[in-house]
This record gives sequence, structure tokens and C-alpha cells, in this order.
Amino acid sequence: MEIEKIAKLMLAPGKGILAADESTGTMTKRLDSVGVPSTPENRLNFRETLFTSNKAKDYISGVILYDETLRQTTSQGISIPALLEKQNIIPGIKVDTGVKPLAGSAEETITEGLNGLRERLQEYYQLGARFAKWRGVYKISNIYPSEAAIVANAHSLARYAALVQEANMVPIVEPEVLMDGKHDMQKCFDVTARVLHECFHQLKIAKVKLEGIVLKPNMILNGSESGIKNENEMVAKKTLECIKSNVPEEVPGIAFLSGGQTELEATRNLNAINKINNTEFVFTFSYGRALQQSALKKWAEDITNASDTQNEFIVRALMNSLASKGEWNEAKEIAA
Ligand code: 13P
Repeated sequence: MEIEKIAKLMLAPGKGILAADESTGTMTKRLDSVGVPSTPENRLNFRETLFTSNKAKDYISGVILYDETLRQTTSQGISIPALLEKQNIIPGIKVDTGVKPLAGSAEETITEGLNGLRERLQEYYQLGARFAKWRGVYKISNIYPSEAAIVANAHSLARYAALVQEANMVPIVEPEVLMDGKHDMQKCFDVTARVLHECFHQLKIAKVKLEGIVLKPNMILNGSESGIKNENEMVAKKTLECIKSNVPEEVPGIAFLSGGQTELEATRNLNAINKINNTEFVFTFSYGRALQQSALKKWAEDITNASDTQNEFIVRALMNSLASKGEWNEAKEIAA
């Protein structure tokens, strides 16, 4: 299938992406937080439980997997990518290998994973992946992000995206400006604008086809230690403004990360964005924590009880599906 078509399917109306690509280190922290040992079997159990939820296919267009999960086989003897494909959910793969301190600016990071990426992508395609993800991370403080971090991470995202398209897959381009910090929303806006601008500059140099990417940015928020409340309408207004002025219109859509927002905040903000969306862009979700937190807690109560975990997950998937159409409200949340 052509990459433009895959991108459209990832952004299909009322659907979003589940980011279940936590590295083993991150997943171990998540499982530790609910008191479940982080074994390959338990990691598979939780993920398989989510992926076999009835109705997941109605709200979820694609799942980003971690290398371990892409290679795992379910209790029913079917591979995880095949299990997803059977439900018309597109399997994706995180291909960056994580962050390392950026030389010359040790408090900032550069995302690694370009070495051997062409060959890895070929194997991932064989295993069923049709899109990929790479996350660049930017920190806000009075001196960060540095020009070096902005340019280096954008350059890596562009080289990654070009290789992914060469392998006939859709790159999710994820520049994440972290919400940690005391800064206000305007600072987040200014930094995100600079970051997006540089990303598209580098994507253009690398000849990446913008019709065949999905952008996964942060929303425009007050820093989590600012003490300032994030009003949904203001988040929506500023986020839309930032995207409109920095994202070329060839990009088919935006699938936000949740980045440490609570489940409810992430839903409310996405809904508010779609209520005022006057652009051609699709705005949907590519949430990790904001789709999995409640489900993970429920699962930890009894990891053999799939249906209660699935109910929690499907509530969040449905609420975000509604938010992706601007049709979510408090009454529907309470009713669910
Ligand atoms: P969060 O929604 O938890 O931020 O995760 C999304 C993601 O894929 C981070 O890379």
C-alpha cells in the first residue's frame, strides 16, 4: 500500500493510535508502579489484553509496538502483528533506541538509532510493521532548548523519516517538548514553534514526502511546575495557532502525545482542539499513558481478569475517539 494511504488509515475519522511501545526499561517502571513483576510474559499479558479488547478496532487505527512485542506470540499462538492485522489495526514499531546526553549540552538529549536503521526497517516490514515512530525530546528552562538540541534532533528525525519512507512505511515524527518546568504556556508555544519549524526545515532538506507522515507533537501547555491551571479552551487555541503557523498543509494529520497529562485532561484538550479546528488537518490522539493508566491499575488487581482491564481501556479509547471528533462531553464521560 502507498504510504499516503497508510497515513490516511492511521488518521481515519474517529480513530487514533495506541502508543504501547514502552521500552523494557520504561515498561518495568510502569509495572513496578502497580506491583507486577516485569517479565516478558507479564508484558505480553498486559499488551495482549489491550489488543484483544472487543471494539478496540472501532477507536484504534494503529498500535505502536516495541521490538519485543512485535516478535511475541499470543496465548492463542498467533503473532502480535497478525493479531492486530486481523482486526484491521495497523502494526507500527518504535525504531529509535532511546536518548543519550547531547555532547556539549549534557542536560539535553539526542535520540539515537540511525545506525543500521535501513536493515532493521526491512526486517520490521517483513514482520508486519507498516509505520514507525521516533521521538526527539526537548527540555524547557531559561537556557534550554539549545540551538544544538533543536537542530540535531530535527536532523535525526528527518534522516529517520526518509529511511522509513524508503522502506514503504509511514514515519510518525515525534518532537516532544516536555511539559516539566515552571514556564508558562507562551514559553511552550515559542519553543514548540521553533522546534516544529526546524523539523520541517530538515524534513524538506531530506526530501521527506509530507503527505506520507504523521506528526506527533505535544500540546501547548503551562509547565507542570508553574502552578498555572491549563484552561482547555486556551490550550486548544494556542495549540491550533502553533500548528497552523508551523506545519505545512501537505501534512495529513496530527496525533498528539499525552506527555504526562492525566487521562481526562488529554481527552478534554483534544476535544477542545477539535471543537475549534478550522483547518484541513486531522487532530487525533497517539496516547500512551492517557490510554493505559486506568487499564494498567485494573489489570494489576488480577492479571487473569482480562475483561475488567479491557473495559477500562475501551472507555478511554471511546472517550478519545469522541474527542477526536469534538463530540466528547462531561455527560458522556460520566455515563461511561
Ligand atoms: P504518552 O502519551 O504517554 O506521552 O506517550 C506517547 C508516546 O508515544 C511517547 O513517545
